[in-house]
Amino acid sequence: MTQPPTGIASIGLAFPSQAIRMETLAPLRGVDPDKLRIGLGCREMAICPEGTDAASLASIAAARAIERWGGLTNDIGLIVVGTETAKDMSRPLSAYVAESLGLAGAVRSYEVKHACYGGTVALRNALEWRLSGAARGKAALVVAADVALYAPEDPGEATQGAGAVAMIIDTPDIARVSLDSYAWSEPVFDFWRPVGEAYPRVDGKLSLDCYVRATERCFAQLVEAEGAKALDGLRAACFHVPFPKMVRKATTRLGELMDWGPDATQAFHDARVEPYMRWNQHVGNAYTASLWVSVSSALAGAEDGERIAAFSYGSGFGAELLMLEAGPKARASAWVSDYEEAIAKRTQLDGAAYLAYRASYVPAH
Ligand code: HMG
Repeated sequence: MTQPPTGIASIGLAFPSQAIRMETLAPLRGVDPDKLRIGLGCREMAICPEGTDAASLASIAAARAIERWGGLTNDIGLIVVGTETAKDMSRPLSAYVAESLGLAGAVRSYEVKHACYGGTVALRNALEWRLSGAARGKAALVVAADVALYAPEDPGEATQGAGAVAMIIDTPDIARVSLDSYAWSEPVFDFWRPVGEAYPRVDGKLSLDCYVRATERCFAQLVEAEGAKALDGLRAACFHVPFPKMVRKATTRLGELMDWGPDATQAFHDARVEPYMRWNQHVGNAYTASLWVSVSSALAGAEDGERIAAFSYGSGFGAELLMLEAGPKARASAWVSDYEEAIAKRTQLDGAAYLAYRASYVPAH
């Protein structure tokens, strides 16, 4: 069977209309702002106002992706949402998004959960569905959407965030995604949220170790399959970004694996990794969306054929390394305005407003 040309055909992004700076959060929690800015690498985190949640962010991002794609909702045969901010134990987030888009009929609709890895699993499902022939020429709508909140005063509080990335999987105008990918999983409790609890429980040290080990195991498979030059000439190496310092620890391990030495590792990080975490620094950890925020920033302005590595990590844990190649319409970067306008227009919370928000917030669980 001939495989249909498949990849990312369009991208839409959505972010909340509020944020808080690390300089504002730090004194509320009695910590040095440099611990958050330098120690964790964070700048700001997005905060949802009342009425904004993962479903509304996902719906806005999806509508933008569909509009840019130019296809009809009738041409969509699959909608899948990766999230760990479920609204309901039964009804998938995809049903909320489909409702807002008027998407019904001969459409497979479901939600995927695997912590921050869920959006990547959703993308792989859609890609493999198209390539299997089961799609019969239809396109897929994939959304990664989350609102990340830790308990007030939790060490993870500075790494909160929110956002959604929607992608139409159809002809690879924006990016071709290689069918070869490199997954690694280990069942652990590094970060989890028991049913009925509002906030995650975290074993911070274990989560850092697991992330670094997953990086090594996934990249080692890539090198085994494609040789030591597999990372040469990359435009970008994008990572799941819980906070930027985590990714620096991961590139240190990657450098050891590749036998680069400290200077070459630093050069790789500075040129191929750090520039593509800048959007994340202003959005915070948007869980499933974090990697795809980074990938969206890396695809912006890319020339046709430029290669991007995308490393996905979700606690629990599941990880996967994907290889992408920019398509002919990446250079036009239509989705950049979604990010830039959201950041330019949003309101910065002061300390009192943030504390009032935390005191009044009733999380859905
Ligand atoms: P902590 O334990 O309070 O922080 O929280 P720390 O004491 O380890 O300090 C952090 C860094 O700041 C250290 O640097 C300090 O030295 C430095 P490092 O040694 O790591 O290089 N520092 C300073 N730097 C400059 N000036 C100062 C200063 N003071 C200290 N004055 C922790 C850190 C990560 C544990 C916490 O933020 C946390 O629990 N986060 C949530 C868990 C997490 O994000 N884990 C990441 C991997 S797991 C993952 O990515 C999955 C996830 O996204 C969930 C999902 O999959 O759904 C989280």
